[in-house]
Amino acid sequence: MAASPTFLVTGASGQLGRRVVEHLLATRAGTIIAASRDPAKLAALAAKGAQTRRIDFDDAASLDAALKGVDRLLIISTDDVLTPGRRLRQQTAAVEAAARAKVGHVVYTSMPHPEPGSLIPFAPDHYGTEQALAKSALPHTILRVSWYVENLLRALPSVFASGKWYSAAGEGKLANIARDDVARAAASALVKAPGGVFNLTGPDLLTTRQIAALVAEVFDKKIEFISVNDEQLLAGLLAAGLPKPIAELTVAFDANTRAGKVDLVTDAVEKLTGQKPIRLRDAIAALKPALSA
Ligand SMILES: NC(=O)c1ccc[n+]([C@@H]2O[C@H](COP(=O)([O-])OP(=O)(O)OC[C@H]3O[C@@H](n4cnc5c(N)ncnc54)[C@H](OP(=O)(O)O)[C@@H]3O)[C@@H](O)[C@H]2O)c1
Repeated sequence: MAASPTFLVTGASGQLGRRVVEHLLATRAGTIIAASRDPAKLAALAAKGAQTRRIDFDDAASLDAALKGVDRLLIISTDDVLTPGRRLRQQTAAVEAAARAKVGHVVYTSMPHPEPGSLIPFAPDHYGTEQALAKSALPHTILRVSWYVENLLRALPSVFASGKWYSAAGEGKLANIARDDVARAAASALVKAPGGVFNLTGPDLLTTRQIAALVAEVFDKKIEFISVNDEQLLAGLLAAGLPKPIAELTVAFDANTRAGKVDLVTDAVEKLTGQKPIRLRDAIAALKPALSA
């Protein structure tokens, strides 16, 4: 391994990828390459000192060209969660290209408990990618990332408009994590290359009812929390106009939480970065500008 390694971050124009590159640039740990399907979107990172390359997991030639000379690679999971198997094909192609390029260490962004039995329809994409890494000869680190605090941005406008928060998550708990804590942890994982599996979570393990109460407090809003079952939640989401696949995915998230499959809180972010993750109350307050925009 070179004394000053070359890092490459895929998906660098995405919200997570961009922040990982910025944190890596701050470490001055080596050469930083930001890679995207559209390098034109990387101008701001280039201005800060990153090199840029084109990478598209659907284009094997772009993978081979982009991974030349790369010592450490972050594979950011792709975003088409509604087409079963597509992400697995894309991410497996990235793993295979990393093996061809003899990358020294690969970090991958997975999800909590992706093993068979997960109620999340896209869990097999993550599990399959973890398996592809395990079967490869590539040294690697898996980051199983809890659900982002920022996911609340999708639900809160309608919660605020109606004053009602419907949930089928029951007494299931989760420890939402701020996206920037994931970015800091991913940058540290690239620099330290620890190997193994890290469950990245926020510091506050709460039920959805408790999260709703915290949101009400932070935003000074009255929110009625209404527990429903899966069928009622699906019917309500469809009646509200959500496309069926998104409504079904939303129900699956709640069912998975109710089943205890995201009930975990860890110190992995602090272990990797030396810094505690942001408290949920502060991360919710940080959503205010995006919600008022
Ligand atoms: N834990 C959670 O709650 C949560 C929530 C949302 C998403 N996620 C996962 O975490 C990832 C990063 O989150 P984010 O907030 O940064 O999402 P985002 O802003 O929507 O970014 C989507 C990412 O997918 C990449 N991508 C899509 N198609 C690709 C392809 N063919 N080849 C290579 N890369 C491709 C994009 O890269 P370019 O456009 O730069 O090529 C971009 O980095 C998501 O893609 C998703 O897998 C997790």
